[in-house]
Amino acid sequence: MTTSAHAGPAALGRAAAGYVENGMKVGLGTGRAAAEFVRALGARVRDERLSIVGVPTSEATRALAEKLDLPLITLAEAGVLDLTVDGADEVDPRLDLVKGLGGALVREKIVAASSRRLVIVVGAEKLVERLGVRTPVPVEVVPFGLSLCVRAVLALGAQPALRGGASTPFVSDNGNYVLDCRFPGIDDAESLDRALRDIPGVVGTGLFAGMAEQVLVQQGGEVRVLERGLGSP
Ligand code: A5P
Repeated sequence: MTTSAHAGPAALGRAAAGYVENGMKVGLGTGRAAAEFVRALGARVRDERLSIVGVPTSEATRALAEKLDLPLITLAEAGVLDLTVDGADEVDPRLDLVKGLGGALVREKIVAASSRRLVIVVGAEKLVERLGVRTPVPVEVVPFGLSLCVRAVLALGAQPALRGGASTPFVSDNGNYVLDCRFPGIDDAESLDRALRDIPGVVGTGLFAGMAEQVLVQQGGEVRVLERGLGSP
């Protein structure tokens, strides 16, 4: 773990933007912390004439990047990305994550899995000893399969809630619903992710196991850098 002197969410974004090098293909995450990164990257592109291309993980991030004149390409055009910077809802000591309270979990995971390196930006309140204690696990499901997915998630020991409620369900950028699944606590994120993805109708989950290389944590006046494998699992 290293420390550096920065302060505030904007500084967290600037610290993450410091990981971007000229010529990189960059995945652009979704949420408030990721938006700070996108803004800081936009400033570097403008002020330092940094040449990069970005792939947004949501329509919201696309709109922000376009406003900042960040050059965007599709994931198909990009192929393998050099780096993705994204936020998270929970980070455990292994740097396994729960993501997706912003609803972009499926595209976020596709973009992260397309990247050589995933860097996460969070406030210290997102650090947990055990995943699932603070937030439910978002699970994106095809609307046609909703009732089966609810039964199967209950059988795995979770309490699912349809995001937005039955009369006005939240619809993802992919046209799907999200079940927020509250587990009593998660010991093995990888196995649980696999079990959830085995349910017909599940498109993806917000469990990101073994994907983040670094987590930048903003706490008070500083940004700490947690490295995978160097923490205290
Ligand atoms: C979006 O779908 C999420 O995965 C976000 O990255 C996550 O919810 C963190 O968002 P905030 O930075 O807004 O807390």
